Amino acid sequence: MTRRDAPLRVLNVVGARPNFVKIASLMKAYAATDAIEPTLVHTGQHYDQALSDVFFRDLAIPEPDVNLGVGSGSHAVQTAEIMTAFEEVVVERPPDAVLVVGDVNSTIACGLVAAKLGIPVVHVEAGLRSRDRSMPEEINRILTDALSDLLFCTEQAGVDNLAREGVDPGKVFLVGNVMADTLLTHRERAEDSSVLERLDLDAEGYGVLTLHRPSNVEDPFVLRGIVDAIAAVQRALPLVIPIHPRLEAALVWAGLEGRLPPMAGVRATPPLGYLDFLKLMANAKVVLTDSGGIQEETTILGVPCLTLRDNTERPVTVETGTNQLVGSDPERILAAFEDVLANPPGGAIPPLWDGNSAERIVERLVEML
Ligand code: UD1
Repeated sequence: MTRRDAPLRVLNVVGARPNFVKIASLMKAYAATDAIEPTLVHTGQHYDQALSDVFFRDLAIPEPDVNLGVGSGSHAVQTAEIMTAFEEVVVERPPDAVLVVGDVNSTIACGLVAAKLGIPVVHVEAGLRSRDRSMPEEINRILTDALSDLLFCTEQAGVDNLAREGVDPGKVFLVGNVMADTLLTHRERAEDSSVLERLDLDAEGYGVLTLHRPSNVEDPFVLRGIVDAIAAVQRALPLVIPIHPRLEAALVWAGLEGRLPPMAGVRATPPLGYLDFLKLMANAKVVLTDSGGIQEETTILGVPCLTLRDNTERPVTVETGTNQLVGSDPERILAAFEDVLANPPGGAIPPLWDGNSAERIVERLVEML
């Protein structure tokens, strides 16, 4: 590799809520160097104020240079529309590299466009595998890693998975977790959030539940079971449930929309911003979720997490952190809930989740590209 004088032009892609949390730390790290000239493209996969704008505000992410405005659709339609619109942007202003984060449809769509145009692809959060191909994210992860030129992993399992798949180890770097960078940067500010007062909650006197995976919400039988578990849990501990649009639609579809509001212990809210949600998690007694990112965030916060799935692509949160897989069977959820209240797990912070992962990535980018 030769030294160059002009800064590296790195085009960064975001589309959905978890992407915003990851890119925030990278944009901050770029701002501290002259070696990289970043641009930011928002695909518009998430477009609601509550799923998008509030994250830009809370995390002080610069306004995107381009918004493709793609919006929702079937997987094929959404992915294809992102690809078509993104190709135009890349052809018009070819960057030195395209950086994608996470595992959402925007990640694979833009990675594929860049790879076909011969532009190096950088994947942040590479190598994670649930080994469950019924998850759309698993397909996105496998394909994005297969076409990436530089792969940054959050945990050793990611490095091992890529080695098993035959990825050149010279392209793979264990750097830690940019989500941890963002959390540690904003933790203090989050304490100023008034969310506990607004929801009339005492610290450690409530739990939090989030649910949005198609496998949990789109099968009415599974969803009914989880609603039964919620009914039992909220009798013992008030439960805050920020409702993702997919859950809202699924409750109506399954004829369950009238079940949650009458439960005395349930506080159903619209999706919350980053700072409110961070404060809510940090002060919770327990978090129940099917999100990937929340498994990591609770591990960093040392808050017990019950994951309503049978597998996780983030095994370090179980092996080192506070996470436990409990599936979606109501009796198993309830038993795990009672157990975790009686014996809260002690967890540790995984290696390199120290707040400096974005800096490590930027250093490597400058060195490798
Ligand atoms: C996407 C990601 C998922 C991630 C999640 C975080 C994929 C395949 N999935 O799932 O990995 O955990 O984001 O939230 O990329 N909708 C709105 N407003 C919006 C966006 C969506 O109401 O701003 C509704 C639409 O009805 C849409 C549905 O939510 O059909 C789902 O949105 P979509 O982007 O397809 O996936 P998520 O379930 O949010």
